[in-house]
Amino acid sequence: MSCGTAIVTGGTKRIGRALALALASDGFDLAIHYHTSEVAAQALLAELRGMGVRARAYRADLAHSDDVLQLIPRIQSDCADISLLINNASVFDRMSFLETEPAFFENEFAINLRAPFFLSRDFARFVKNGQIINLLDTRIRSGDPDYFAYSLTKQALYHFTRLAARELAPGIRVNGICPGPILPPPDGSESELQDYARRIPLGVPGHPEQIVRAMRYLIQNTFVTGDCLFVDGGEQLI
Ligand SMILES: NC(=O)c1ccc[n+]([C@@H]2O[C@H](COP(=O)([O-])OP(=O)(O)OC[C@H]3O[C@@H](n4cnc5c(N)ncnc54)[C@H](OP(=O)(O)O)[C@@H]3O)[C@@H](O)[C@H]2O)c1
Repeated sequence: MSCGTAIVTGGTKRIGRALALALASDGFDLAIHYHTSEVAAQALLAELRGMGVRARAYRADLAHSDDVLQLIPRIQSDCADISLLINNASVFDRMSFLETEPAFFENEFAINLRAPFFLSRDFARFVKNGQIINLLDTRIRSGDPDYFAYSLTKQALYHFTRLAARELAPGIRVNGICPGPILPPPDGSESELQDYARRIPLGVPGHPEQIVRAMRYLIQNTFVTGDCLFVDGGEQLI
């Protein structure tokens, strides 16, 4: 029996893809959002359908509010049983405070905060019983000055998670996951990730499967809302 349709933004690659595949194996149908990864989206759809679930892909540039505002209604018109929204899509750009220009600031906030804000609002307008999971970052604890605006977007998304959990209870639970070093940035290398991870308490990078486990816990534990799970090898402690 289907668990309803799960929406995963930025769901074609890396952590989003791992979450989508896990959701399919748990019995969810999938609405996969992507922006530039058309080829990866088509490959993932074939894999998901091979697992016996329904799967569709939706292109949207989350930097543009028109695209954001159309996305949930587009999905809703195809899938009447939406039950889960995973706000996973994100940009992660290095920029110091003194070098930050308004266009850069606006792009980071549009994709990392404005998009999940309005996708969650629209989800809550359609869905009476469901849940939202926001992908945050262990950097919400103390921020990272090398990723100044990015850190602020995730800190704001953390506060949004808690406020939305209050506002949308009891029908919709809203939680977050705060990954530490899991995968190198798309333009980074595995050795840079290993070097970074040596400085955190557990000394090694994590794996997308550990984010999958956090997601499954949040989905299954119906008494948890407004929480944020750190899956970061102890990075929040330093
Ligand atoms: N990787 C880590 O170790 C790590 C650490 C801490 C936090 N996180 C958080 O965990 C989540 C997943 O991480 P990740 O590294 O797997 O993410 P990622 O690969 O950096 O990005 C995921 C997707 O976001 C989409 N995206 C970027 N700009 C977009 C735009 N303008 N419009 C629509 N979609 C856009 C991209 O879709 P397309 O490819 O289709 O363009 C991309 O595939 C993110 O929220 C991230 O902040 C990850």
